[in-house]
Formats: sequence, structure tokens, C-alpha cells
Amino acid sequence: MDEPMSRARAATITGLFLLLSAYAPAALAQAFAKGADVSWITQMEASGYRWQNDAGTQQDLLQILKDHGMNTIRLRVWVNPSGGWNGVNDVVAKAIRARNAGFRIMIDFHYSDSWADPGQQTKPAAWRTHTFEQLMADVYQHTFNTMNTLASNGIFPEWVQVGNETNNGMLWEDGRASANMRNYAWLVNSGYDAVKAVSPNSKVIVHVSNAYDNALFRWNFDGLRTNGARWDIIGMSLYPEPGNWQTLLSQAITNINDMRSRYGKGVMIVETGMSWDQATASKAFLTDLITRSRNAGALGVLYWEPQAFNWQGYTKGAWNTNGRPTIALDAFIEGTPQPQPGGSVTLQENLTGFCGVDGTIDSNHAGYTGSGFANSNNATNAGVRWRVNATAAGNFTLQWRFANGTTGNRPGSLRVNGTTLSTVALNATGAWTTWTNSGSVTAALRAGANDIALVATTSGGLANIDSFTVTGSGISATACN
Ligand code: GCU
Ligand code: CA
Ligand code: CA
Repeated sequence: MDEPMSRARAATITGLFLLLSAYAPAALAQAFAKGADVSWITQMEASGYRWQNDAGTQQDLLQILKDHGMNTIRLRVWVNPSGGWNGVNDVVAKAIRARNAGFRIMIDFHYSDSWADPGQQTKPAAWRTHTFEQLMADVYQHTFNTMNTLASNGIFPEWVQVGNETNNGMLWEDGRASANMRNYAWLVNSGYDAVKAVSPNSKVIVHVSNAYDNALFRWNFDGLRTNGARWDIIGMSLYPEPGNWQTLLSQAITNINDMRSRYGKGVMIVETGMSWDQATASKAFLTDLITRSRNAGALGVLYWEPQAFNWQGYTKGAWNTNGRPTIALDAFIEGTPQPQPGGSVTLQENLTGFCGVDGTIDSNHAGYTGSGFANSNNATNAGVRWRVNATAAGNFTLQWRFANGTTGNRPGSLRVNGTTLSTVALNATGAWTTWTNSGSVTAALRAGANDIALVATTSGGLANIDSFTVTGSGISATACN
């Protein structure tokens, strides 16, 4: 090789390196995807479904998900579905809606007219009599056309799944992996090439269920690799039960590590869920899943159809039958482990952020700080309410200043967005205007408005409350309406 040539090459490499160093931090900062597959949304809305936020106010579903820390929406595509739901027009409408709401987008091709999963990979009716060569062309054309329609609406999905839960291949019998691994690999490549032809930057995912089953993943992806398949990311499903999630999650983490090192590819949990009425276990599972999969280098966690309640017999949503999310969804709020420094707001009983007291505002006692205090009725659930706005979801500390002129405890319950965070003791302070600061309690708040209440848990009532302080970056008082 001659001298000018190698200098040119060195310059190119240096340029590339500078480009990568300049862009890598920004890319890494927003790398972890948290989101949901909400493919049922339009069909549910058409049959009258609406959703409420934690406070019980009706809101657009995507807004509720965003307020719970989600940044990604996944949508499935069927080839020619009866009724049209999840056909190309429905998918494009939902993708536009998700894009306009600021979400990152994943498209999931089931090469079927209906569900494709480990138990069924049925060819679309229109392709049923086609030869294998025609099937490869079908996969290419259908993928290309769908991607093209999305592109003409300005949508270039960040991720595209070629096949859904293709544990044993797709388009049975031709693409059944256990019978003909080469055919499966070639069908994957047909989809891969069509995706890249329209949207070269989209990452192609091959998706297998049972994230805990390392032998299944090795068999599938070894087979693809041996037969020259191309893909960028390994997608996984994980649907454990309350009694086995710890075990299955640990096995899934082992599998994530193995997939990353064995194939040098990214890994993503593209589907997860647990029974809606096991919300406490589900939240614990999701919290650990997000933390541990991210620590293992995974790229994201997506919940499958969380908005489903009383719908098509599906029980692994994350929604209560009263229309509000279960606490499981709060796992996506996350936040940094420790409260962030840099902001605090002290709420007073007569200023912005005060949402009322079940009793009176007293200003006729000496000794209090601020312009008065909230004296609630001596009844269970009577208390005081505040509203704050957080610019981003995260952990914050809560602290209140109280006086209790009895000789005993006035126990209270601290509620954030309608859910009890903890019970607290408001012990005697000596007099009704002798003020004491409580200890601080950490609370996960979502982006946007958050309601905080301190209420009595016994008929004796709550102590008097002088002020309430919320500390953490980007916090402010916001009006109650
Ligand atoms: C007294 C006192 C109030 C207090 C109340 C109570 O009325 O003046 O400040 O709130 O007792 O028992 O709660
Ligand atoms: Ca009182
Ligand atoms: Ca006050």
C-alpha cells in the first residue's frame, strides 16, 4: 500500500473516532428503553375503553405511560388480519400517535394474519400455497411495504422485529427451525434486508420467548449464525409468576450475559408481564428486572399490553378494573437511587400547592412558622393535601413540620398519588404550636404533577401541620384544581 493511501485511511479512521467520541455520550445517556407494547390501544378505544391516571383523572394512555417513566412504544404488525386491527393502516396510525407523543418506536412483524408465537407460526392465507422462494419474496415485500408506509409518514423505527417469538422459526412448515434451520435463517435475512433497504439505521431484532432458557437461545441463535443469518439485537420475553420470578430472573440475567458474549449482540427484554392482581410481586419483579438487566448491559425492558383490563381474557396487564394503573407500573418510574440535590419546595397552607385540609386553617396561635397551620378534623382519613410538579421522574425526600399537644401519638398515613407510601408517627411535641420536623421519607415521584397527602389513620385525628417540604432537583409547587 502506498504512502498517500495510508495517510488518507488514517485520516478517515481518526475522523470516525472523533465522530464516535463526540456522539457516544449522548447516545449512551438515553440508551435504556423503558416502555410498553400497546397494540390493542385502538381496538380498545373503539370499543369504548378509556384510561385514568393514578389520581383517577381520564387521560390519554400514552401520557399516563410517559408519566410513569416510559419512553418507548412497541407495535405488532399482522399481514392481513380479519377486522383490520394490527394491519398496516392501524399500525401506522398508532406509530404516528406514539411518535407525536415523543416516544421511541419498535415495530414487531408477526409473519401471519394473527398471533405468531412458539405455539403457532401460521402462514398468511395469501401466502399459503407459495414456494419457499416466493415466501422469501413475500417476507421481503410485506416488510418493505410496511416500512415504506411508515417512512412516508416520517417514521423510521429505532427497532424492528423480524418475527415474533420465533423459538422454532416462522412460516411453518417451510421455516420451522427444527426441520430446516437454513430456511429460518434465510427468512430472517429477507426481513433484515427489507428493513435496512428502507431504514438503514433501524436495529433488527430476532425475538425468542422464555428468557431464562439459555439452551433454547443457544440452539436458535447458533442455528441462525451457522446459516449466515443477520440480526442486530436478541429480543427476549419473560413472564414469570409471583412464586418463581427471582429464580427465572437470575437465569435470564445469566442468559443475557451469555448472549452478549457469545454473539457480540445487544439484548433487550421486548416483552414482560405478570398477573395484574399480583401488583406488589409484579412491581418487585419489574424493579429488579430493570435494574439487573441494565446492569448486565441489556438495552431495555418493555411491558406487554399493560393497559389491558377485562379485555379478551388477558390477565397480565398492569391496570386495575377501576381504570387506574396498578402499582406495578411505578417500577418504570425508577429514578436515581438517592434523592438528587439541587431543589426543594416548602409548601404552606395558604400558598400554591395547597390542596386543602379536612378542617380549618388556624392562624390564631403563636409560635408557628409561616402564615398559619392546618388543623384537620379529628377523624380517620382527615388530613392535609399538597401538589407538586417534578420536571423528571425520580426519588425525592418528603418532610413535614407538625405539633401535637396530646401526650400520645397521632398516627398518620403518607399517600403519594393515591397510594400509601408509609404510616408515620406524629408523636407528642408538648403543645399544639410547639413545632417539630419529622424525619425524611423517600418517595418516587413521576414527571409532572404529583399529589401528596398526610391523613389520620385513627379517629383521634392528625397532628397540626405547619408546612410540608419536598426536596429534589426540578421540584416545584403546582396549583391544585
Ligand atoms: C385543640 C387545638 C388544635 C388541635 C386540636 C386537636 O383544639 O387547639 O390545634 O388541632 O386540639 O385535638 O386536634
Ligand atoms: Ca385537629
Ligand atoms: Ca405554616
